[in-house]
Amino acid sequence: MTAIVEFDPVGVDSIKGALGADALVLPSLDILRTHLDTNPFEDCIVLGPSVDQQDVFALAESLRVTRPSLGVVMVRRRIDTAVLSDSLRAGVREVVQERDLAGLAMAVRRQRDIASRLRHQLERGDEVVSSSTHGRVVTVFSAKGGCGKTTLATNIATAIAASGKGTVALLDLDLAFGDVAIALQLFPTHTIGDAVAIGEDLDGEAVRGLLTAHRSGVQALVAPMEPSTADTISVGLVTSIIDVLRDEFDYVIIDTPPALDDNVLSAFDRSDVVALLATLDIPALKNLKLTLETLDLIGYPRDRLKVVLNRADSKVGLALSEVEKTLKAPIVAQIPSSRDVPASTNRGVAIVVDEPKNPVSLAIKAFVDENILVTASNDDTIPPQLRADRRSGRLWRR
Ligand SMILES: Nc1ncnc2c1ncn2[C@@H]1O[C@H](COP(=O)(O)OP(=O)(O)OP(=O)(O)O)[C@@H](O)[C@H]1O
Ligand SMILES: [Mg+2]
Repeated sequence: MTAIVEFDPVGVDSIKGALGADALVLPSLDILRTHLDTNPFEDCIVLGPSVDQQDVFALAESLRVTRPSLGVVMVRRRIDTAVLSDSLRAGVREVVQERDLAGLAMAVRRQRDIASRLRHQLERGDEVVSSSTHGRVVTVFSAKGGCGKTTLATNIATAIAASGKGTVALLDLDLAFGDVAIALQLFPTHTIGDAVAIGEDLDGEAVRGLLTAHRSGVQALVAPMEPSTADTISVGLVTSIIDVLRDEFDYVIIDTPPALDDNVLSAFDRSDVVALLATLDIPALKNLKLTLETLDLIGYPRDRLKVVLNRADSKVGLALSEVEKTLKAPIVAQIPSSRDVPASTNRGVAIVVDEPKNPVSLAIKAFVDENILVTASNDDTIPPQLRADRRSGRLWRR
């Protein structure tokens, strides 16, 4: 069920129209609070355009503490940057324009899905698996599309392979729309879709048979050619593939779709480093903040998360210190914007090897050196307790 508060009957009709019979309209915020107290399985609330914005923010701020898994969706007549950034600070998960009924239905579905998963994880006390004993796993993620995930993942993989500091596998987990093969101009004979026939207990030899070699030395496991094949690939299979790859390679770099789905969460569980990517715009930063909050909720170790800003030199009037304060996380790398990036991608080469002196290449290589390559100094940045836990292979509590 989804509880709605909206005072205007026309607004109520349109919100109910978007959400269907499964919506419960409540007459005030006080009654909504009582409803939430007595319904621990309520996963999402919608606050309509007639509900005072400051009241919504105050409610969201208190629910963030008392009911962290609940999805708060706010509907507004007008949405501008100020509304989005204030919502982001308050903990409103989604802001939807009042006429965007399809967007509202999608936002509610997304929030209910995330909230129920979080609730179950919190109830079960699921565990984040410890990071690897052999290969180092690095996942590149951003909840907003087009931030540069594939660019960063392919360049990290190529930079490590070119440095000769270890063997590298690149896994494309953007199962429906992955474009690692295109970015590196690969002509694969196999894709991750072929692993379905092998089953979840696949071994190193089977996975190696599915890889495509890039001239840099990177071995890529690319996404299926047909988007529909994605549905046949289970999270169990994805998890087995990551486990096998980290046994076989020194570094496993994972590209992801722009959504925190079960495959991505499984990759996070097995990652030593998660590069969280954003660009300097409010929608991207809002999604990054939500990702950080969601990962905090499930107890994901903060020290594995590295915030990376792409196109960080864009003049958009957002100060980095403000961004860090809002995210409550440091920005560990800033990659500038350059027309040479799409130009390299169009030629199927990674800019880090094609133009090693380009500021984009220098920023990516510095990120790799400081945060990914196993060096004595990187190991020093890992807290002693974590180092001990890694060695003993102990599990993380969520
Ligand atoms: N630093 C940069 N400077 C200029 N262009 C960039 C930069 N980073 C990425 N791009 C360009 O932005 C576009 C999107 O990048 P990319 O495909 O890596 O994003 P993505 O996050 O993987 O997208 P999707 O969510 O669709 O998978 C590409 O054309 C890429 O060349
Ligand atoms: Mg991509």
